[in-house]
Amino acid sequence: MNSRKEALNILFEVIKNNKFSNKLLNNLIKKEAMSKEDIAFIFKLVYGTIQYKIYLEYVVNKLIDPEKTDYKIQILLWMNLYQIKFLNSKPYYVINEAVEIAKDINKNYSGLVNKVSKSLLEEKYWEVDIKNKQNILSLENGFPFWLFKKIEKDYSRDQAEEFVLISNVESKISMRLNTLKISKEEFEKNYLEKYELKNSKLINYFYLSNKNIVNEDIFKKGYVTIQDQTSGLASHILNPRKESKVLDMCCAPGGKLTHLAQIMQNTGTIDAYELQENKMKLIQENLNRLGVENVNLVCKNALDIDERKYNYILLDAPCSGYGVLRRKPEIKLKKHSETETQNLLNLQLELLEKAYRCLDKDGELVYSTCTINKDENENQIEKFLERHKDIEKIFEKVFFGREYDNDGFYICKMKIK
Ligand SMILES: C[S@@+](CC[C@H](N)C(=O)[O-])C[C@H]1O[C@@H](n2cnc3c(N)ncnc32)[C@H](O)[C@@H]1O
Repeated sequence: MNSRKEALNILFEVIKNNKFSNKLLNNLIKKEAMSKEDIAFIFKLVYGTIQYKIYLEYVVNKLIDPEKTDYKIQILLWMNLYQIKFLNSKPYYVINEAVEIAKDINKNYSGLVNKVSKSLLEEKYWEVDIKNKQNILSLENGFPFWLFKKIEKDYSRDQAEEFVLISNVESKISMRLNTLKISKEEFEKNYLEKYELKNSKLINYFYLSNKNIVNEDIFKKGYVTIQDQTSGLASHILNPRKESKVLDMCCAPGGKLTHLAQIMQNTGTIDAYELQENKMKLIQENLNRLGVENVNLVCKNALDIDERKYNYILLDAPCSGYGVLRRKPEIKLKKHSETETQNLLNLQLELLEKAYRCLDKDGELVYSTCTINKDENENQIEKFLERHKDIEKIFEKVFFGREYDNDGFYICKMKIK
């Protein structure tokens, strides 16, 4: 299979049909026939083209009429510009292969692809020339104006600019050591150097790596699992004691759930809920691989769960995901409608109310999201605390992503006064 063609097909699925890039790319890893180099190249092309899509489209549209050009051909041209400008690829290969791919899509377009791609070599077309100078940074970095404005309004212009810049920086692979399977001493003695792992500066038992380790023994044997450092903080800050009763309301794929089990050393019980049936298999695989034995996993809407009392509750809520743009850059390409936004805010609010009703009198609750959006985070919690005067906030933090090479994340810990 031709790598560029494979990348184009994935891009089409992501951009046109709203599929998630990481899922399609992870399927590639399973294809035995592809070399590591090919897979790495496809990852780069797919992520890069999505990250800069808004900019690439702006430049390519100087040279074509998008209304009259096949959409897959447009994506092919964005991919070409990405390779020429950002990867410094040799133009000869980029253009030749693109012309061959265009012939497969529709012969009539091969001439256009050849001509436009050659024009894209000219740097004069790369310039961003728009009336509103305040939007130049966003456009140059393929960042949507609406999201920039939202972050600027919620926080500050500086914060928004920093967020734009960080959103295209390649993220490291972050992993958590699973002490249910191996001690820290033994793990570090045998694997730290071998896999060139660096200790996280944010949280104990977490390591950063430049290499994907999902095909390595340390992953398969359950010694480590892939999890962002800030995501790890949610369970770390909830910190359930041994033998306690814990509720994880939205648990797939189980990163925080398996961490909770680790903190509790497989004692007590964790009732874990997940709405989507198709995620159950992956959660169960993770529980098995990591040797977790204290989880009662249920596929059910968390709004319908029985209101038993729990000592600890984790509500890692469904959210807009603006904190994970580096890993899922397609999120920035889809602006939620007013109705979608309101539905999401209502769901978070209802889940919080459910958590409140399940909290024991000495109970503690962590609310977290992987987004940077005050309405879903700080404002949501402020309203919750106004409704429930018996609850107090004991910890709150927003991570923007630049702090420790982490994802953007929000955590708030609360307890009954
Ligand atoms: C942010 S993800 C959870 C990530 C997970 N806590 C982890 O660390 O691996 C939110 C999850 O909530 C699930 N979800 C959404 N609405 C839900 C509901 N009403 N009840 C239960 N789960 C829900 C989604 O399917 C999604 O898997």
